Amino acid sequence: MRQLFIVANWKENSVNANEWFAQIINAEWNIENRSVIVCPPFTLLTKINQVVLEHQLPIKIGAQDISQFAKGAHTGEVSGEMLNEFTKYVIIGHSERRSMGESETIIFEKLKRAMENNLIPIVCVSEIEQVKSLSLKVKNEGEQLLIAYEPLQAIGSGNPDTPTHADEFAQDIKREFGEVSVLYGGSVNPDNVHSFTNQEHIDGVLVGGASLDAKSFSGIIQNA
Ligand code: PGA
Repeated sequence: MRQLFIVANWKENSVNANEWFAQIINAEWNIENRSVIVCPPFTLLTKINQVVLEHQLPIKIGAQDISQFAKGAHTGEVSGEMLNEFTKYVIIGHSERRSMGESETIIFEKLKRAMENNLIPIVCVSEIEQVKSLSLKVKNEGEQLLIAYEPLQAIGSGNPDTPTHADEFAQDIKREFGEVSVLYGGSVNPDNVHSFTNQEHIDGVLVGGASLDAKSFSGIIQNA
C-alpha cells in the first residue's frame, strides 16, 4: 500500500496545543499507510515534542522554516542543528516566504542546511520553473525529499486546484526528479482530500487552514 504524507502547517496561528492534541489522542484513525507530520511555530516545538513522546503518538514533527546559515550572528534565525533536536521534517520555500523575498539561492542554501542536519525537506513549489531550477541542483543526491505542489490561487482561498491538473503537475515533478514524493497543497479539507490522494502521482497533502482544527485534520487523515 502506498505511503501517504499528511502534513499540517499551522503557520503563524495560535493553536491551543493542549486542546488540539487532546482531540487527536482520542481520534480513532486508520493510519496504517499514513505519515502524519505537524509543523507548528518554533515556540511550540518543545511542547509538542513532549506531548508526542508522552502519549506515543504516531505523529512526526516538522518546522516551518530553517536558517540558511549553519550558525552564528544571525538574529532571529533557527539553525538546522537546533531543529534537529525536535523535528524530523522542515518546510522550505513556502510561497508565503518566497513572497517575503526568499530567493531560489536562499531556498537552496536552506535545503543544504536541512540535509546536513538529517532533516527531511518539504520543498514547496508553485511553478514548473521552480521545479526545474531545484532539480538541477538536487537531482541524484539520493537524499529523502518531499515536494509540495501549491498553486498560489489555491492557498487559503477555498478554491483548490482540480485533482486532474494537480496530478499532471505532480507527474511533471516526478519526471524532473525521479523518485520523489509529491504532495498537493491548497484548500485541502476532509471532503476533497481523497480526490487528490486518489490520484496516481500524488503522495499526500500539505494542509494549512483545515489543520488548525483537530477535528477537521483528523477527518483529513481518515479520508485521505
Ligand atoms: P491552505 O494552505 O490549506 O490554508 O490553503 C496550504 C498551505 O499554504 O500550505
